[in-house]
Formats: sequence, C-alpha cells, structure tokens
Amino acid sequence: MKIDNFIKESVINLKPYIPIEIEQDSNLLKLDANESNYTLNKSLKKKYADFIKGTLINLYPDSGNKRLIRLLENHYSANSDNFIFGNGSDELISIILASLKKDIIVNIPYPTFSMYEIIAKYNDLKVNNINLLEDFFELPPDILNQGAASPACEKRSNCYDDEKIENGGRQKNIYFFAYPNNPTGNHFSSDILLNLLDGKNNIVVIDEAYLMFSDKESFIKYLNKYENLIVLKTFSKIGLAGLRFGMLFAGDKLINEFKKIKLPYNINSLTLASIEFFLNNYRFFEKNVHKTVVQRDTLFLKLKKLNFINVYKSDANFIFFGLIDENIKSAFDAFLKKHNIAIRNFTGRFENFYRITVGLPSENDKIIEYFKEFDSTK
Ligand SMILES: Cc1ncc(COP(=O)(O)O)c(C=O)c1O
Repeated sequence: MKIDNFIKESVINLKPYIPIEIEQDSNLLKLDANESNYTLNKSLKKKYADFIKGTLINLYPDSGNKRLIRLLENHYSANSDNFIFGNGSDELISIILASLKKDIIVNIPYPTFSMYEIIAKYNDLKVNNINLLEDFFELPPDILNQGAASPACEKRSNCYDDEKIENGGRQKNIYFFAYPNNPTGNHFSSDILLNLLDGKNNIVVIDEAYLMFSDKESFIKYLNKYENLIVLKTFSKIGLAGLRFGMLFAGDKLINEFKKIKLPYNINSLTLASIEFFLNNYRFFEKNVHKTVVQRDTLFLKLKKLNFINVYKSDANFIFFGLIDENIKSAFDAFLKKHNIAIRNFTGRFENFYRITVGLPSENDKIIEYFKEFDSTK
C-alpha cells in the first residue's frame, strides 16, 4: 500500500512544526516563544486551585457559560454573538482558512507569524508574500493597488493570470496582519489597513496577539463598520499559553460561517473555568504586562549599545535584531548553544536575524552579560 497516494501533496510537502524540547531541570534560558515567564504568585495559585477544583470533568465543556460570556463581553466591549473561542488562536486561523474558496489569495507580510502560511498551504490556498520595506518593516505603499484589476496587473507580485479575469476582473484577497507584527515588533499603518478594509474584494484579519504590549487601540471597534474584518485575540502572551485559549471576533455574516465548522467542544472545561478565574483577577496580568513593557524598553536600550547587532524598536513582548556581519552567524549560533540560550532564528532572507522574548529581569540581565561577552570577541 502506498500511503502517499492517500495524502494531499500540500501535506506531504510540509515539515512538522517541532517546538524545542526542554528537560525538566535544565537551566535553559528560554526566550524563543514569546511566552510570559511570570508565573502565578502563591496566593493566586491557591485561589486558582480552589476555583477549578469544582469543575465537572465528566461532562462535555460548556462554552456558553453565562458568567464567562458576560466577563468576555465586558472585557472586549463586544457582543457574544460576534465571537467564538479557539484552542489557541492557531485553531482560529485554521478555521478561517478552512472556510475559504480555493481562488482566494492569502496575502501575508514577509516576515510574519509562520502559521498563516503553513495552514494556508495545507488548505491548498495560494499564498502571496508581501515583502516588508527594508528599514522599518512597514507595508509597501503599493499594497493598496494590489489585487485590483488593471492593465498593469501582470507587473504586480500577486497577480495570477487564472484569477484576474473572474469576478469582474478582480481578485479576491484575504490579508493576515499581526498587529504588532511577529517577529519584527512594529505596527503596520492603520490607514493602510483601513484602506484595505474599504476594498470590496478583501477580507482583512487583524491578529492582536501582542496588542496589550503596545499603546494602539484594538480593531474590535470597527466590527460594526466592516463586515469583512476579523480580529483575533489570544491569552497566550500574558501568561496563559498552557491553557490554549484564543478568540475570533467578526460581523454576523462571517462569524455564522465560522460557527458551522468550529468543532463543538474545542475548549476543555478546565480552560474555560481558568479563563473565568483569570478574568476576575485580570489586574495581576495587567501588572505583568506593564513590567514586561518596562523590561522590553530597558533591554532594547542595552541591546542597542552592542556593536555586533542591529536592533529594532518593538511594541510587543519580544525584540528583533540582525547580525551586522553575516560572517559571525555560525560563531553566534555556537555561542547561544554553549550558553543554553534559546532564541528564535529565521531562514531565507532573514537567516541572520533573531527574535528574543523579553524575559524576567534576571533573564534579561543574563542575556546582556552574555551578549556583551560575545560583543567583546568581535
Ligand atoms: C501573531 C501570532 N498570532 C497567533 C499566535 C498563536 O497564538 P496561540 O497560542 O493563541 O495559538 C502567535 C504565537 O506565537 C502569534 O505570534
């Protein structure tokens, strides 16, 4: 039997996403996944244990729990008819892309969060990478012309012959924007995003996974105005990555389609109870977000003093930097390995770039000490 004959080519061509393995007692400096390294304090831990111990795990989970729904409606100033939950926002990205017709082009910045492209590909959708501008990773201004029909279509990066004539000569597009962007840490211009939302053939996904670390406002306020807007949220970056809880917000038409393909019991009972508990204790997380922002800005200033890297300002809980001299890459990678430092490195055009998650003050201090040591040898 040839198993390959059963599997879609788009799946065969993928490589599995393998997170780094951590030994229980390792002293790994784990700053690769944009998690929060703040854990619960002792008193909150006890209250949490008391709260969840009554959870009925013999029953299927109740995602319609009224107390939880009210808390979320208040927290996000949104109506519960217009949101659904996901097992992390990864699952919600998957729901969006699974619902699309095959002639829709998935437009994503390059570089950005890798799951948009991976999930689009195994859904057999065409992906168009939008190269971000070199200096500060802003969107190219001509993005507004892309996707519209015109004689110059052939010259644009995302013009596909087979699609451009259908639908009145217009391509249908979905855009994914992490806002702020992962891994670059900047926000794209909200004017450009709103202009894309004005386009009749565009759906625009604003992924606000890191928005709480910035001073920008959520796009949730535009849900009433734009039926082609989708907003994603996650609880992973504020200290609850292990619970796997994300939210998708959209207008009536889109959300009703997504509700049809969302698996019925996708969020487990312990996570639902935990989210209710944590919303009641949200101030604890807010304080940690604030501490992370202060730490990020301090880390940025210290990294900027080093000679071997170029550092980019960030509005998120991580910092992006590039090696000034590509010839030191293998020495730097070996140095990271030797000191048990896990940070994210990239491939292709960005193979000399790294993304470091802002850690606890002690972790950031250690990083600076190590990087200064490396700097002095270059
Ligand atoms: C931009 C962005 N969106 C979504 C996610 C996925 O988050 P979740 O843990 O909710 O699946 C990540 C995770 O790193 C991310 O960077």
